Amino acid sequence: MRIYKTSDYNTLSQKAAALIAAQVVQKPVSVLGLATGSSPIGIYKQLIQWHHEGILDFSQVSTVNLDEYKGLPRDNVQSYYYFMNENLFKHININPESTYIPDGMESDDAKECSAYESVINNMGGVDLQLLGLGYNGHIGFNEPADNFAKATHCVDLQKSTIDANKRFFASAEDVPKQAYTMGCGTIMRARKIVLIASGAEKADIIAKALEGPVTPQVPASILQFHPDVTIVATADALTKISGETI
Ligand code: F6R
Repeated sequence: MRIYKTSDYNTLSQKAAALIAAQVVQKPVSVLGLATGSSPIGIYKQLIQWHHEGILDFSQVSTVNLDEYKGLPRDNVQSYYYFMNENLFKHININPESTYIPDGMESDDAKECSAYESVINNMGGVDLQLLGLGYNGHIGFNEPADNFAKATHCVDLQKSTIDANKRFFASAEDVPKQAYTMGCGTIMRARKIVLIASGAEKADIIAKALEGPVTPQVPASILQFHPDVTIVATADALTKISGETI
């Protein structure tokens, strides 16, 4: 595991975007696993800029997102489909048919989850998976649990996640209570993982995830077992880490 320490959010965004850009330059037909939330917005801005400057070509790239709220239609401004379109896809030359996000409007959990796993398998798996980190240690929407979920599944969101995400909604009641998410197993099958974390309020959970015991109570801790993980985090998010940083 490599841990890059950056002075601020802008540098974090540039460094993590550079890792994604390197992946796309080296393998133009890459499958990128993407995340939503506040953390990746700066990365997506940087990728868009490099695309506009002619440095990055997404025409052969495919993407698969980590998760989607259950019950939100694609045109809902809070859906992750809407987020990805607004913050990345509509600004780059990616083929919309090569971008995949779970269908939040599919009510049949088993059908949607197995279809999503098939999409990922048929693409040949994820080359690089971008992850944010929830305050409770979640990756995707894998909430603290008694075991690590192996595959895409429907999850009940925990109160702490609903509280953390209510800032995007009119009120906590409006936050969907369930989501479809890749499992920890799906995430671990990605060939490379880049996890980003920004801000002092992530310092406790990042230390638990990277240096604490590996436990499904801290879902991100499973990344300690992945052979190719890069962490890009701001200095204030790394104050409780004892291991070496770059
Ligand atoms: C988003 C996702 C979540 C977020 C996490 C951190 O697709 O899967 O795990 O990455 O909740 O969110 P932010 O970046 O808003 O702190």
